Amino acid sequence: MKTTKGVKVLVTLPLLLFPLVCDAKVTGQCGNCHTMHNSQGGAAVARVLDMVDGSMDLSSTPNEALLNTDCIGCHQGSNSLVNDRIVTPYVLRTSPPTYDSTGTEGTTTTLAGGNFYWVSSGQEATGHNVKGITSPDVRHGNLPPGGADLTTQLTCAGTYGCHGDRTVSSQIQAMRRSHHANDMDSWKDGSTLAKSYRFLYSVQGLEDKKYEFQPASNQHNKYYGIDRTLETQNDVSTISSLCGKCHGDFHQGSGKIAAGTFGSGVWLRHPTDFDMGRAATTTEYAAYNGGSGANNVYSVISPVATASKTAAINSTVYTTADDAIVMCLSCHRAHGTPYPAILRWDYKSWPGAGYNGCAVCHTTKD
Ligand code: HEC
Ligand code: HEC
Ligand code: HEC
Ligand code: HEC
Ligand code: HEC
Repeated sequence: MKTTKGVKVLVTLPLLLFPLVCDAKVTGQCGNCHTMHNSQGGAAVARVLDMVDGSMDLSSTPNEALLNTDCIGCHQGSNSLVNDRIVTPYVLRTSPPTYDSTGTEGTTTTLAGGNFYWVSSGQEATGHNVKGITSPDVRHGNLPPGGADLTTQLTCAGTYGCHGDRTVSSQIQAMRRSHHANDMDSWKDGSTLAKSYRFLYSVQGLEDKKYEFQPASNQHNKYYGIDRTLETQNDVSTISSLCGKCHGDFHQGSGKIAAGTFGSGVWLRHPTDFDMGRAATTTEYAAYNGGSGANNVYSVISPVATASKTAAINSTVYTTADDAIVMCLSCHRAHGTPYPAILRWDYKSWPGAGYNGCAVCHTTKD
């Protein structure tokens, strides 16, 4: 009996510990994030980030869901690993983060989306001008190039934002039941908000638990894409379709992307949701990231999406069908970078200075 029990403990212990190690949903005391009445000893508890001096100022206005601060209040700070994990993903710093040439080097402190720091410091073209972080873009106003005017400033979430349910206008309500139900170990199938890639409703993917903090070919987000056959095709599960929700003409639509037949003629706009593997053996794309057209190493500098929907990381390219899909994030980051047009690298200064990230794919054009 004793031996059996001993064996049983040994077998079940890892099963019990597994969820504790791998859970990605919010943890800790409720009071770290919520306040029941926004009042303690008669004083306010809720805080809001002051963009002028970077301090967290008391706010007498209670937040929805009894939160003690808003999206920006929680998601501003300096990223570092705790037990090899990022506990809270910080997307805004009030002093310069380290980005280097491509945001992927071993000293960098930004995550997959980059950082709103540069746009917050007045460099208009380096990020999305999100409300609460900076004022509306002086050149674009609230008009996303390639799309329709939002009529009001861009927000993190909701109708005028990227995250959450875009049919709900309040940011917190649009994000309801996501944070407490997150699971980064499984493929996000887009069926609910909590099961959507980075709470981008309907988008699919697999999330790196370090949010691409100092990423590597075997440690990065797995982006979902499709190899389209028509320029009018718009699958709301792909990461590029998310960008297309506001920048529609740059992703889909008749006469918007291809001249002649999609994929066999020339292009009108740079292709996205299009697989490089179609011509991997006969073109410059065979040498993607220095490879030879089979099992090339995945590039975190110019990443590609994949049609694979498994929780296995895609560390090589040209390994399975449709695993070399060009996407908006092959060249851009979503939040901000130090470079114009929110590009992953300094396209404008090359050649001379800057960085030619285009050459990761266009290998004969360096
Ligand atoms: C690290 C921060 C954090 C901690 C700790 C936290 N919450 Fe939350 N909670 C949130 C955020 C952010 C939201 C709002 C967005 C959402 O619903 O995902 C939320 C929403 C909620 C909601 C409404 C949405 C839902 O999922 O039902 C309830 C209820 C809730 N929290 C209860 C709790 C309780 C009880 C605790 C303690 C056991 C707790 N929270 C601890 C961050 C936190
Ligand atoms: C909810 C709408 C919305 C979505 C979704 C969206 N954007 Fe934008 N984007 C805007 C607006 C509005 C502007 C113009 C104002 C600004 O720069 O913030 C803009 C501007 C830009 C710019 C130009 C920046 C500049 O200042 O010149 C780039 C590049 C860009 N977006 C890329 C993307 C990419 C890539 C995605 C997908 C990851 C995306 N956008 C998703 C609304 C959106
Ligand atoms: C009270 C603090 C708090 C607030 C308020 C808050 N977050 Fe979070 N958020 C967290 C923490 C902690 C995590 C990491 C744990 C997790 O994944 O839920 C997180 C994770 C996320 C993620 C990554 C999810 C994933 O799938 O990996 C996104 C996206 C996000 N938050 C967006 C938002 C937006 C948008 C808002 C405002 C509507 C918001 N958060 C408000 C604390 C907060
Ligand atoms: C092959 C790289 C690449 C891909 C893929 C790409 N872009 Fe761009 N994008 C650029 C470059 C480079 C610029 C800077 C302007 C230029 O050189 O045309 C730019 C500029 C922009 C701008 C700013 C336009 C303006 O008027 O200031 C927006 C918005 C934008 N891209 C959105 C997108 C969206 C949305 C997608 C996906 C559907 C996408 N991009 C895919 C490279 C790319
Ligand atoms: C992730 C890979 C990738 C990256 C990064 C990339 N491209 Fe492309 N590009 C492609 C693919 C694939 C095509 C379509 C090739 C085809 O139709 O066979 C293409 C097409 C083009 C075309 C149109 C060619 C035609 O025949 O119509 C131009 C021009 C171009 N890219 C320029 C750029 C520039 C400039 C950059 C950097 C800002 C860049 N690309 C970055 C993969 C990429």
